[in-house]
Amino acid sequence: MSFCDLPSRHPRCPQRLTGLYSTGLYGTGLYGALPRRLRVAASLLITLLTAVPVVRAAELPVVDVYKSASCGCCEIWSQRLRASGFPVRTHDIAAPAAARAGLGMPAEMDACHTAKVGAYVIEGHVPPADIQRLLKEAPQALGLAVPGMPAGSPGMESDQPEHYDTLLVQKDGSIRVFAHH
Ligand code: CU
Ligand code: CU
Repeated sequence: MSFCDLPSRHPRCPQRLTGLYSTGLYGTGLYGALPRRLRVAASLLITLLTAVPVVRAAELPVVDVYKSASCGCCEIWSQRLRASGFPVRTHDIAAPAAARAGLGMPAEMDACHTAKVGAYVIEGHVPPADIQRLLKEAPQALGLAVPGMPAGSPGMESDQPEHYDTLLVQKDGSIRVFAHH
């Protein structure tokens, strides 16, 4: 266990950015008065507390969205993903349905855009929270789909929202309900 005692020599030391230096404990004499073991524990605790949200955001994988250039709801869905912490790359393509088919998503799941995140395929206006849950639970599956662009789904905001289901889609095309909305 070691931590950066020399900020002037390690100006970019993460310990300096997220650990005890940011608390102002250094330089007060108080920190130096703590037993070393306690200093290590305090440093570790503060680093963990301050670093967790950063790590979590950085750990979300990139979402590649394949969509038509003229599709506004695809763009809004992409923005909703970004607002949830996903890095998103959008790809305007001439034939989104061909991209969907190419990624193995069945035609019955058809919506307006198809996305790839990690090993999974995402079809349509799937809520970002469902994608986060998918990545966390990591089930054996092709991915998730919200077919048919229901009103009220993310990117399809509406005064008259409908109930809809997010479906877990297997590679053989079989489906089960993943979440009710
Ligand atoms: Cu759409
Ligand atoms: Cu779309």
